[in-house]
Amino acid sequence: MDSNMAHDNPQAPPAAEVTTVFTPINLILFSLFLVIAYMRLRPEKPAASTLPQPPPPTVFRIFTPPDLRPFNGTNSMPVYLAIRGKVFDVSSGRNFYGPEGPYANFAGRDASRGLACGSFDEDMLTEDLRGPLDKLEDLGGEEMEALRGWEERFNEKYLVVGKLVPVGSPEAEGDAK
Ligand code: HEM
Repeated sequence: MDSNMAHDNPQAPPAAEVTTVFTPINLILFSLFLVIAYMRLRPEKPAASTLPQPPPPTVFRIFTPPDLRPFNGTNSMPVYLAIRGKVFDVSSGRNFYGPEGPYANFAGRDASRGLACGSFDEDMLTEDLRGPLDKLEDLGGEEMEALRGWEERFNEKYLVVGKLVPVGSPEAEGDAK
C-alpha cells in the first residue's frame, strides 16, 4: 500500500500540488541560482599588482664615503651606515636613523668614531669625504671596546650590504667600471 496517497490523510493537500515545486523549469532556475551564487561568493584571486613587492635583492658592493652619503633615508632611499669599513643596512631601524630619528647624524656616514665615543658631535664624522677613512688610531681601549660592542649588536640586527673604502683606492676604482 502507498502511505503517501492523499486519501490516507484527509488534511494533506492533493499530491499534485506538492510535486509542482519540482518542475523541470524550477530545477533549471534553481541550478542557475546556484551557479550565480557560486560565482559571486567564490574567493577572488588577488590581482598580481596587489601582491606585496619583494624587497630589492641585496648586492654586496663597494662604497666610498660619497657613495654612502645619499643612503640617509631621504628621497625614499634606504638607510645605511658604516662601522669600521662594514656598511650596514639599518633601514629596519629607520625610527633611529631616518631623517627624524635621534641618530640621523650617522645615516649615510661612517659612524665608527661617534659610536666609539658615544657622541653626536659633528667632528665625529669624517669631514673630507674624498680623503682617507678614519683609522681611529687615537682612540683608547674603552672606546674601542664600546665600538666592538656596537658592531656586535649591528652584526646581529642588520645586514651587511657592502664595504666602505676610500675614494681613489684600488677597490673603489674597480667598482667604478
Ligand atoms: C641621553 C642618552 C641616551 C638615551 C636616553 C638613549 C636611548 C636609547 C634607546 C631607548 C634605545 C633603544 C634601545 C633598543 O630598543 O634596542 C637606544 C638605542 C641606540 N642608541 Fe641611544 N640613547 C642615548 C644616548 C646614545 C648615544 C650617546 C649614542 C651614540 C652616540 C647612542 C646610540 C644608540 C644606538 C646606535 C642605538 C641602537 C639603535 C639600533 O638598535 O639600531 N645612544 N638609545
